[in-house]
Amino acid sequence: MTGRRRFGMALAFAAILAGGCDFLPRMRSQPSSKPYERDMPAMPANLVPTTGGEVIPDAAKARTLANPVKVSAAAVDAGRTFYGYYCRHCHGERGDSRTPVGDSYLPMPTRLDSPRVQAATDGELYRAMVIGKGHEPVMKSTVPPERRWRIVHYIRTLGR
Ligand code: HEC
Repeated sequence: MTGRRRFGMALAFAAILAGGCDFLPRMRSQPSSKPYERDMPAMPANLVPTTGGEVIPDAAKARTLANPVKVSAAAVDAGRTFYGYYCRHCHGERGDSRTPVGDSYLPMPTRLDSPRVQAATDGELYRAMVIGKGHEPVMKSTVPPERRWRIVHYIRTLGR
């Protein structure tokens, strides 16, 4: 490389530095509210929460709990969609529970196509879905209750 070319490249690099690329953490330095910078808005007095505080049925109650959603092609279809949102990455499309994400859990995700899981009642599946050791407490807060019952219908199709 000639001296002239080297000088030219150095000049170009300097121009890039001087131009756009200043290596400042701009996301952080821009004007914006920082965590804990402001007080939380005060809550009006006497508020009563209308959601949350859900009670998951205990094992004995779950055993006899009936699925309030009638089984139908549409319910199973919706269940398959919701299963895709919340379960498939660990339990696999067909419930064999061998997936890259699931494989990193100990214990490994239970096979949903197994006779043991398929022998559970709908209520027991509902309960296991939200309180399984590997789930708690995420599934309870992420999967809305009415979706859970449709997912139960989909899990039933995995045993066949
Ligand atoms: C982050 C990974 C992960 C996701 C997401 C996940 N599971 Fe699991 N699941 C596990 C693991 C790990 C176990 C085994 C340990 C345990 O009992 O929780 C398990 C166990 C289960 C069991 C069996 C519990 C038993 O009685 O042995 C059921 C049923 C189940 N999952 C259903 C679901 C359903 C339905 C969803 C979606 C709503 C879901 N899981 C989402 C990881 C996951």
